[in-house]
Amino acid sequence: STDPLVVFTPSGKRGHFPVGTPVLTAARQLGVDLDSVCGGRGICSKCQITPSYGEFPKHGVTVADDALSEWNAVEQRYDDKRGLKPGRRLGCQATVQGDIVIDVPPESQVHKQVVRKAASARAIQMDPATRLFFVEVDEPDMHEPTGDLERLERALRDQWEIESITADVTLLSKLQPVLRKGKFQVTVALNKAHDDSIARVIDIWPGLHEAGLYGLAIDLGSTTVAAHLTDLETGEVKASSGIMNPQIRFGEDLMSRVSYSMMNPGGDKEMTAAVRDAINTLAEEIAKEAEIDAALIVEVVFVCNPVMHHLLLGIDPVELGQAPFALATSESLSLEARDLDLTAINRRARTYILPCIAGHVGADCAAVALSEEPGKSEDLALIVDVGTNAEILLGDKERVLACSSPTGPAFEGAQISSGQRAAPGAIEAIRIDPETKEPRFRVIGCELWSDEDGFDEATATTGITGICGSGIIEAVAELRIAGLMDDSGLIGSEAQTGTGRCVPEGRTNSYLVHDSSAEGGPRITVTQGDIRAIQLAKSALYAGARLLMDQRGVDKVDRVVLAGAFGAHISSLHAMVLGMIPDVPLDKVMSAGNAAGTGARIALCNIAARKEIERVVREITKVETAIEPKFQDHFVAANAIPHKTDPFPELAK
Ligand code: FES
Repeated sequence: STDPLVVFTPSGKRGHFPVGTPVLTAARQLGVDLDSVCGGRGICSKCQITPSYGEFPKHGVTVADDALSEWNAVEQRYDDKRGLKPGRRLGCQATVQGDIVIDVPPESQVHKQVVRKAASARAIQMDPATRLFFVEVDEPDMHEPTGDLERLERALRDQWEIESITADVTLLSKLQPVLRKGKFQVTVALNKAHDDSIARVIDIWPGLHEAGLYGLAIDLGSTTVAAHLTDLETGEVKASSGIMNPQIRFGEDLMSRVSYSMMNPGGDKEMTAAVRDAINTLAEEIAKEAEIDAALIVEVVFVCNPVMHHLLLGIDPVELGQAPFALATSESLSLEARDLDLTAINRRARTYILPCIAGHVGADCAAVALSEEPGKSEDLALIVDVGTNAEILLGDKERVLACSSPTGPAFEGAQISSGQRAAPGAIEAIRIDPETKEPRFRVIGCELWSDEDGFDEATATTGITGICGSGIIEAVAELRIAGLMDDSGLIGSEAQTGTGRCVPEGRTNSYLVHDSSAEGGPRITVTQGDIRAIQLAKSALYAGARLLMDQRGVDKVDRVVLAGAFGAHISSLHAMVLGMIPDVPLDKVMSAGNAAGTGARIALCNIAARKEIERVVREITKVETAIEPKFQDHFVAANAIPHKTDPFPELAK
């Protein structure tokens, strides 16, 4: 062809186009991912590109200085008003004049990659369900008696190849004034779920809407509710926030909430209302923190365990309280946010709830599977999401198994005498000197560091309020390492241990971590009861992992991934000393942060990921801990610290 050659980077896609073809048109024809909200009108600036000039032997092209057209009036106007970055052009205005190499920067790609914090993690690819489209609608005409919605639909078909749309009555009520205010130029937010052929109009604004679109990824836990406010165009997390689940007043753990519902007529309705209220409050707070209008939140993705799932949906969880633990549905759900009374956000916002795996293995576990992808692992990975319920996955490319284990809230600092949430003032890490038996600790939000690891001498008195999950895990493990506690979990007396930090409390002993009661501050001890609570929790967790290993026919795993809001803060050594996790080399224990929350973010940003997890979940082998007799055996054996029967050779090193 004698037409100029156009090469796009980084995709490498190339083709010949007649002189005068806009770069955006060439990109579209080649299937190059180049964004556009305004449809080439030169007002949205989403289509920015960077042309390259000179010799490109790799592409077999020499690019002359005049390979693109000069700036036209539209580009000049945009640059005057907003300023284009040096070297950038508007892809919809610049036209091809000669052979050219064109780079599409990440911010101009619809399907951009969003890098995740965890080093090992795959990036999130953007492909949101809700996107913005600027469109020019024909004005009404006496000779052509069509409605405004029909003309909007026709314009979207002609200008964006969107076949059909649907709008509810709340949208219809604003359609006419908005069209007229925008002089029939409007921006619509269209939502298209992966199995829909019809796009829903979520909202409409006069002219070009530039304030963006947002979504919430919510990890709805039994103890805490955590949300990430995410920009649906860039994938950027604008704010993260969490609150306590107000259902705690009806019962600390899931089973007590199920019994509350059984014992109190209408109890499930109370719990549903409480959690929905809390989500509205959280949405308002997080929008305020990110300084955006909450009405721009157009999508919410939820991950949660089965009981929370039912209570969120307004379904009585009573069936989940007894075998065979039947769910009302285990399928993923796409719903109107207003059906869940989520009134603080856009009134036409959509929600997506990940599928549940089984009666006790919820959408939170599915989210961990989406984030950590055990089914793609070359080696055998044990993934543990530590919370009030532990979600446990074991698998590799061959097969993935999952179960859930009722650890109780001890790992989250609840049911611990000085326990608290991981928040400023909480002791999050602790070391006990094996010689002097004196503690050093690290307090969240406290600047009184005394050594390079950030451990403070026990003299710090300000700001300490309690001990959080990771702190109590380390405290119990350290008591064992320092020889202050035997393998059955019994704390010795002052006479036995030779330290005044072991103090009698009732008929048992406690370890005194910190005492500022003389100055009106707290007195923080690790009591025998605390140790029992941690033993129960860790035994449940370990027994769940062992049950999966039995089913898979292995007695060791290649690596362990600790996930969960505080999973990242647990020291792998202490987790192993405690016998929370099976014996593996310490460098094979990694943390994945809040994997369930990340899974929710992935599903929020990428509609294909929703389909993917729906498929993956169907292939996961479910193991029900509650009805497996071996679970009980493992549980009893796992009570010792670290363990009664299983060897821990790596720990011995
Ligand atoms: Fe909107 Fe080019 S496509 S400015």
